[in-house]
Amino acid sequence: MSLPVLVAVAVIIAAGCCGRCGAQLPIPARTDGFVWGAPPGPAWGGAVVVEAFFDPVCPDSRDAWPPLQKAAQHYGAGQVAVVVHLFPLPYHSNAFIACRSIHTVYKINASAVYPLLEKFFKYQEGYYNQPTYTKSRETIVAEITNNLVAPVIGEANLAAYKAGFNDSQSDQATRISFKYGCARGVTGTPYFFVNGMPLGDSGSPVDYTTWISTLDPLVGKM
Ligand SMILES: *[C@@H]1O[C@H](CO)[C@@H](O)[C@H](O)[C@H]1NC(C)=O
Ligand SMILES: *[C@@H]1O[C@H](CO)[C@@H](O)[C@H](O)[C@H]1NC(C)=O
Repeated sequence: MSLPVLVAVAVIIAAGCCGRCGAQLPIPARTDGFVWGAPPGPAWGGAVVVEAFFDPVCPDSRDAWPPLQKAAQHYGAGQVAVVVHLFPLPYHSNAFIACRSIHTVYKINASAVYPLLEKFFKYQEGYYNQPTYTKSRETIVAEITNNLVAPVIGEANLAAYKAGFNDSQSDQATRISFKYGCARGVTGTPYFFVNGMPLGDSGSPVDYTTWISTLDPLVGKM
């Protein structure tokens, strides 16, 4: 083979080895579908919609949040809308408690959801499987309540929080988060959809540069 052919073959082989299994599906400029009734246009208005499935006690979810936030801020909420779904992974012992905690706080003060999610990200190492192995569920729930939730919602709301956490509604909401992720084919976290299309990079954090190169061709296009 001539040198250019060899180089081409080497590049193809390298791409095949390093590339992900399955190509990235084409991402539509806006969410697919024709909305019935007025006003016509995409269901989400003009924005590109990024959906992120996060587990509050998953290190890759924690690492995925700052670059996604930075990219979304780069465009602004009117251009790129970010929706976070909670997805409690079964192999993280405290994931269900963490997600239930966030659902409970949402009912008390919806603005406290992201501050609490960020608290979980910041202190998640204390709630991994190994450091909590010998702790009771009661202890873990109390630690989350006192160390993470109380500073976010305030002491005055703690009684309402404790009652809400025990309530079957918060249990149900968390189960629905899990089932919703399963129904969308989510198999790990972080897991991303852009305008409804799954991102091939899912399962590990996507860096800022990759977000910009993914979103730039979509923002401003209709
Ligand atoms: C709700 O939470 C936000 C963020 O923590 C806080 O700024 C706001 O004061 C809270 N509102 C109420 C009514 O407690
Ligand atoms: C929550 O449920 C547990 C177990 O059933 C119970 O021991 C605890 O007192 C309950 N807490 C509140 C605030 O209702």
